[in-house]
This record gives sequence, structure tokens and C-alpha cells, in this order.
Amino acid sequence: MKTIIEPFRIKAVEPIRMTTRTERVTKLAAAHHNLFTLNSQDVLIDLLTDSGTGAMSAEQWAAIMRGDESYAGSPSFARFCDAIQNLMPFDHIIPTHQGRAAEAILFSIMGGVGRNIPSNTHFDTTRGNIEASGAMAHDLVIDEGKDPASEHPFKGNMDLAQLETYLTKHGDSVPCVMITITNNAGGGQPVSLENIRAVAQVAHNHSRPFFIDGCRFAENAWFIKQREPGQQDRSIEDIVRDCFAVADGMTMSAKKDGFANIGGWLALNDPELAEQARAHLVRTEGFPTYGGLAGRDLDAIAQGLKEIVDEDYLRYRIRTNEYIIERLDALGVPVIKPAGGHAVFVDARAWLSHIEPLQYPGQALACALYETGGIRSCEIGTVMFGRHPDGSETPAAMDLVRLAFPRRTYTQSHADYIVETFEELVQVKDKLRGFKITKQPKLLRHFTCWFEPSSKNLVD
Ligand code: F0G
Repeated sequence: MKTIIEPFRIKAVEPIRMTTRTERVTKLAAAHHNLFTLNSQDVLIDLLTDSGTGAMSAEQWAAIMRGDESYAGSPSFARFCDAIQNLMPFDHIIPTHQGRAAEAILFSIMGGVGRNIPSNTHFDTTRGNIEASGAMAHDLVIDEGKDPASEHPFKGNMDLAQLETYLTKHGDSVPCVMITITNNAGGGQPVSLENIRAVAQVAHNHSRPFFIDGCRFAENAWFIKQREPGQQDRSIEDIVRDCFAVADGMTMSAKKDGFANIGGWLALNDPELAEQARAHLVRTEGFPTYGGLAGRDLDAIAQGLKEIVDEDYLRYRIRTNEYIIERLDALGVPVIKPAGGHAVFVDARAWLSHIEPLQYPGQALACALYETGGIRSCEIGTVMFGRHPDGSETPAAMDLVRLAFPRRTYTQSHADYIVETFEELVQVKDKLRGFKITKQPKLLRHFTCWFEPSSKNLVD
């Protein structure tokens, strides 16, 4: 059979409210052209994020009922720990309300002024938590990972030579080495098992602990199985276990490959570090057997972790991206290749080359996708990264638009509709205009700033 079908039947549905183009143009103007400001009922296909937006299974809803809300020692916590330790054999599991809370706890202990923390690419909340502690975050991804056109199979890999130099240069100021699987900020690109092992080895040779940001661990394992020599006949579970066996700890957002709408954890082997982390947890999140979560959430995650490693699911999941990327490529839309795990990334700077980076080609494309097709995507470019703490502005490294897919939520006809929306945009793309920002906060401006269409493009 050629068609990879969605490996599920639909038991509960959430209607999508149909809108017209005229209505969407009005809504977007009322939202000051900021897609974060839209009401989700005004969106047809919501690809803003794959975080916490997936559909839970019947078994997960059953687990929600099973959840035990005891303040201390709930069996839900035992099931949560068992499910994690089945895949990631860490001694101490510390539940948190989401990934960034795990990062905040870890870096409140390991960060601090004068410290330096390397990764392939830190996700923005990870970087934010490191920098908030006074430490510096550095990205050491391989060169191919920065080239949208490179077809390297593991563009999320860390550059081992750079890591070696970094550890020698920064010495004792490096409290740990991190790696993000898959590399979200670098296009959802995977990291090979060989690279994970090698990074762990380099870190350990320098007596530094090694941590994995494991948000999309199952998607990463699927890529390892598909692309890494010698891994084809192995189970996803075994590959996942191998990835985490060489680490000293992990941070996790269960809103991604935990198949849950909320949740996360910090896992550690070092008992002293775990004690410090629990002390912080009790102050900021909750008692150590529930962290920031309800018992029912712990059970939903425990069940989700059993389902996420299912190969039929992962095959369908990754195929959705590949399918859209193949079709966009055929239309001449520049996309980051090869397909990553959770999202399609369009190179808006290359496609809308008549719009200067400081007039935000990514924002122009994201707005056009909404007006034309009701699709909500996310600019990852100069709007997000272009402004500096001193108020100055420079183009970001790339102007991308991310179409992130919620898990088990949309079907192939939604994917076809997305491609058709691009087909329409191919006709009008040269007429799309850039934007200027009329109001913005000092930090994290992309969430709330206001835009106005430019009357003229700088390069006109
Ligand atoms: N690490 C990575 C790699 C992430 O992608 C995210 C979240 C986090 C950590 C933080 O987890 O949201 O549970 O606090 N990424 C979302 C996204 C927000 O849209 O990519 P969280």
C-alpha cells in the first residue's frame, strides 16, 4: 500500500468554524496583524505550535479518570515514574508543570554568573532560563545544521571539535553539556545516536555531566531508526533507552512527546543535585510526588509515553511533514530539508526576496497564510530575534515560518489544504508587502507587538 493512513479512528471531534477571506482580513487587522493575538475560533488550521495541542487517546482519557489526587504518595506518581524509567533510566524523577519549569529548576542550581553552557541549539526558554541565572548559553550545532539546503541526515548534531575546544577554553565554568533532541530551534532536525554518545563521551572526559532536552525524543528515535546505519532492526524503545543511558539527566516537556496537554519533568542521577532540585520544586511547583501537576495529568502522561513510541504512529507523524515538504518543494517554495520531526519550516527570506529582513518577510508570509487559508503559523526570524536589549534592531540569521503540527489532530485532507493555500500564494507572492512594527514591549516582542503593512517595500 502506498498511502500511509492515519493510524487511528476518530472518537470525539472538535468542529472547525469556517471563515471567509474577508472575515479573516478584518480579524487580522483587528489583531494588529499579530497572529498570537487572534482568537483560536477564527483559525481553520492551527499550526502555531505542536506543544500541548495534540489529541489524547481513549486510553489517556481513561487514565485521566484513574488519576489519584492525593497530595502525597499518589499511585499516579508511581505510574508516571515507571513509564519514564522504562524509557529513560534515571534515578530521580521530578515532575513539573511544563518543560521550562524543569529548566528553571536545573539552571537555578547549575547556572549563575560566569558559567557557560553549550548545546547543539538551546531552545529559547532554555536560553532564557540560563541567561536569567546570569550564565551564558552557546550553540555548537554542526555547520550543515545552519544551511537550510543541506540534506545531511542529522542536522541537529553537535560539532564535536567545537565542543572539545569550548570545554578546554571555558574549563571549570561549564557546569554541564546539553543537547536538544530533536533540535527545534534548528528546524526540528534530529541528532544521531552516534553523536549523542560522542557528546556524552567528550563531556565525561572533561568530568562534566551531560543533559538531554528530550522534548521530541520519540521523533528523534524514529529518525535514528530510519537514517542511522545499523539501527533499522531495533525497536524505538531500545533506541530511546540507548540515547538516555549515556546522559546524567534530562529536561522534558510532556506537551510534545509525552502526548499530553500539560506537564514535564526533570530527571537526574546525582542524589545531591536531586535533593536541591526537590527543595526548589517544593517552593515553586509543588510537593515532589506531583510537582506542578494534577494526579490525572501524571496518569495521562504515563499512558502517553506508552503510545508515543508506537512505530505506526511515528511513521504517520513524520510522513505528514515529508509529504508537505515534497509538495512545497515541487511548487518551488524553499523549505528546510530534509523534513524535520514536528514542523515544516519555510525560508520566507528566500521566497519573498523583495521584502527586506527589517520589513519581516516571515511575518508577511504568516499573515498571507492566515488571510488566504485561515492557517496560523509562527514567524521565527527577525520579529522574534531581531531586537536587542539596547533597543537596536538587526536581521536575524534566518527569516523562517514554522508550520508545527499538533499530534494526531489533523488528517491528510488538512495537509492537502495547506499545500493548496501555498499554490494560491505562488500566484501572488511577489505582491505581498512587508510590515513595520508600531508598538512593542522591551522583551519577547513577538507575542504582543503591533504591526502595520508597509506602504512600500524597502527594495521597491
Ligand atoms: N525545549 C524545547 C526543545 C521546546 O521545543 C520547548 C517548547 C521547551 C523546551 C519548553 O517546554 O513549552 O513545556 O515549557 N517548545 C514550544 C514550541 C513552546 O512551540 O516549540 P514548555
